[in-house]
Amino acid sequence: MTQPQKSWEHRLGKPTDSLAVDFVESLSFDKRLYKYDIVGSIAHAEMLCEQKLITKDELKQIKEGLIEISHAIAEDKFKFDKTYEDIHMAVENALIAKIGDAGKKLHTGRSRNDQVATDLRLWMRDEIELIQAKITLLQKAFVKLAEKYVSDIMPAYTHFQRAQPVSIAAYLLSFVEQLNRDFMRLKNCRLLVNLCPLGSGAIAGSSLPLDRKKTAELLGFSDITYNTIDSVSDRDFCAEFIFDCSVISTHLSKLAEDWIVFSTTEFDFIHIDDAFCTSSSMMPQKRNPDMLELIRGKSASLLGSLMAIMTLLKAQPSGYNRDLQEDKRHVFSAADTIEACVDMAAAIVDNTKFKTEKISAGLEKGFLDATALAEYLVKKGMPFRTAHGVVGSLVAQCEKQNKTLAEVSIDDFKKHCEIIADDIYISLGGKNVASSYATASAASPAQMAEQVNYWKKQLAQR
Ligand code: ARG
Repeated sequence: MTQPQKSWEHRLGKPTDSLAVDFVESLSFDKRLYKYDIVGSIAHAEMLCEQKLITKDELKQIKEGLIEISHAIAEDKFKFDKTYEDIHMAVENALIAKIGDAGKKLHTGRSRNDQVATDLRLWMRDEIELIQAKITLLQKAFVKLAEKYVSDIMPAYTHFQRAQPVSIAAYLLSFVEQLNRDFMRLKNCRLLVNLCPLGSGAIAGSSLPLDRKKTAELLGFSDITYNTIDSVSDRDFCAEFIFDCSVISTHLSKLAEDWIVFSTTEFDFIHIDDAFCTSSSMMPQKRNPDMLELIRGKSASLLGSLMAIMTLLKAQPSGYNRDLQEDKRHVFSAADTIEACVDMAAAIVDNTKFKTEKISAGLEKGFLDATALAEYLVKKGMPFRTAHGVVGSLVAQCEKQNKTLAEVSIDDFKKHCEIIADDIYISLGGKNVASSYATASAASPAQMAEQVNYWKKQLAQR
């Protein structure tokens, strides 16, 4: 078989070694950029034509040829040949094979260095929007679940020990907040992504009269990049994108960890739908939360990609280096993994029930009302530090007597601290305490009802 001709074979004395062909190629993974590569090429050709570097007829041939190639790829009829190294050369060579000399003009004033940076930015712009849409669906699933459980109370934990009672909605909306920051982070990332490096050429720009603003405008970029050396080597946006995906994954793995624990026989707070569990090949009784375990497990891959991209960028000399080709493996892997995890999380959230009776049956365990009792004493004029000590010793006594604070008689309360009066009992017990929270955005049913409405409105506007 004859090796395809590359223009640099006039410079290099030999065809590329077959081991090197396999080693250097990125076509196997960058072919997923083909649409962006073709769109970028069409914009470049339009600009070349406006600048009279190619004729209208050549532009027409280039456009038609590229569109045909795009259809062939979409229909799986394109023969990808790895000797062309990457999607850029595969498309360009197919164009030359189709239309001849006009095709040979497409690469005027362009290098694969600015081309790949442009393709990747175009791809990432869309990818960010896709992930944002998925985040919104997940947020909506959380809000829907929160709405069901606004008036139900559960323990909140610090140090994984019972802390204070909260509306179940407060717990669920905590994820909506986290995901909202994830959404905003991606929005910010998109601002940095949405700049056009095309026309930076290999590293210095070109002596041809290219109109960079024109291609940027045709491709919907907000502006051009302003330093050609930086333009071909900047992959900060890739690192930032993977970081943003990693934070989402960290949030989802917290959810997974919570719900794996909540679904144990020991906790028994939630029921995860059978459709999202697996069983054991040996133990017939098992309902295992494998999907949640995998959401938690896949965060390892995201963090690995983040470490990889940072290491890739560290200590490269200025300008384009082939190391940068590896960026796409990590960027694609991060995008695919986070998409799958957000989708899976949304489906699970949509199909999970909180076992409110079980949760409220155990709500008086663990002295969730102790802080509220100390605050009751503060309202009666006692300094908080003193109140903290008084309640601490009451709790220690109750623990010995196997009692809750609400089960202490008024006489015993008074013996312990004389300013405690009959009205104490409305400040005790999980439900009373949760409804007594008065600070802005505190975890009470009343405030969570408002927040559910807030989020419903916000998310409907996206
Ligand atoms: N496949 C390369 C990449 O992904 C394209 C740029 C190659 N440029 C070069 N001068 N060898 O980075």
